[in-house]
Amino acid sequence: MNSNNSKKILLTGVAGFIGHHLAVKYLSEGNQVIGIDNLRVDDSVNFKSQRIKDLETRSAFIFEKIDIRDREAVSDLFQRHTFDLILHLAARTGVRESSEQYADYLNTNVNGTCHLFDANVDQKCPIIFASSSSVYGDNHIMPFSEDQKIASPLSVYAASKASAELLAYHYSKNFGMPITALRFFTVYGPWCRKDMAVYKFFKAIQEGKEITLFDEGQLLRDFTFVDDIVESIFLLSSLTASGHAKFEVYNIGNGNQSKVIDLVRLIEVSLGKTAIIKFQQKVGEDMEATQANVDQLFEKIRFKPATTLSEGIMKTRDWFLSND
Ligand SMILES: NC(=O)c1ccc[n+]([C@@H]2O[C@H](COP(=O)([O-])OP(=O)(O)OC[C@H]3O[C@@H](n4cnc5c(N)ncnc54)[C@H](O)[C@@H]3O)[C@@H](O)[C@H]2O)c1
Repeated sequence: MNSNNSKKILLTGVAGFIGHHLAVKYLSEGNQVIGIDNLRVDDSVNFKSQRIKDLETRSAFIFEKIDIRDREAVSDLFQRHTFDLILHLAARTGVRESSEQYADYLNTNVNGTCHLFDANVDQKCPIIFASSSSVYGDNHIMPFSEDQKIASPLSVYAASKASAELLAYHYSKNFGMPITALRFFTVYGPWCRKDMAVYKFFKAIQEGKEITLFDEGQLLRDFTFVDDIVESIFLLSSLTASGHAKFEVYNIGNGNQSKVIDLVRLIEVSLGKTAIIKFQQKVGEDMEATQANVDQLFEKIRFKPATTLSEGIMKTRDWFLSND
């Protein structure tokens, strides 16, 4: 560990929505962040460069353009640095694209994650990585709790995250590596991805364009404000130490369900505009409902996400109107 309790942190997916928020938090707490990302070109690519530009104004931040699919590049990174903590968020995200592009989802989310675990075999640095509520798949008992089976994924994305969790168990058990998998429940907030419903709804409603809602907007989601995710990870990481080679899994969600149509209504109110809505049938990859049981998280860190959807949407609105 560096002097005065400052940690040297590897953060993968640092140009992404949650990665950027996390980097800001750890830097503001006096840590050094080595951020990596392949800056993959997608709908949010201009956000990615803005986020990196923002982080590069801080002297304790270093960016390296590294692709986690490249095993040698990841291994070389670990030859050059010794880390105190690894926060692994780099991934192919989005459920619906994952059946068409399954090879790349698996290559990134499974092989890429293995490359990190493998490169860390000597250092055995604690790893916290982003899994997803989607691993609960076809489970219907709500709220989802960590001891439910994750053997019924509804998408390649979900299967890739569940596979990464299984591999994490293997590395933790057989190589003595502390690994924590965090199942995030629909995260939203300022700087969110452009392919996410919250962003799409803000943009379309503001511009008077049509939005598409599946299943009459009745799908239920546990929407979690990004600051609550960041705070949970920060508190968890302060309790995760080298030498305790445990594999742990936590849900991080708000614990409440909202209908997608209610989300739309809140965004309408926040913008003072009315949505033009087209209804469509749900696609097979979509889960009907999600809801997190966060008892285990609370027991561990004495904190649980509490930002209400209406508070979070107002904060997202303020960002949207001043930045988009
Ligand atoms: N946002 C959510 O609602 C949500 C929910 C559940 C889980 N998650 C997980 O949280 C993590 C962060 O999600 P996000 O919403 O910030 O997504 P994001 O797409 O904004 O961030 C992911 C980042 O990873 C990078 N990346 C992709 N492939 C890479 C590769 N091969 N090498 C290096 N970098 C690569 C991308 O360029 C991007 O900047 C992901 O692992 C995601 O699966 C997110």
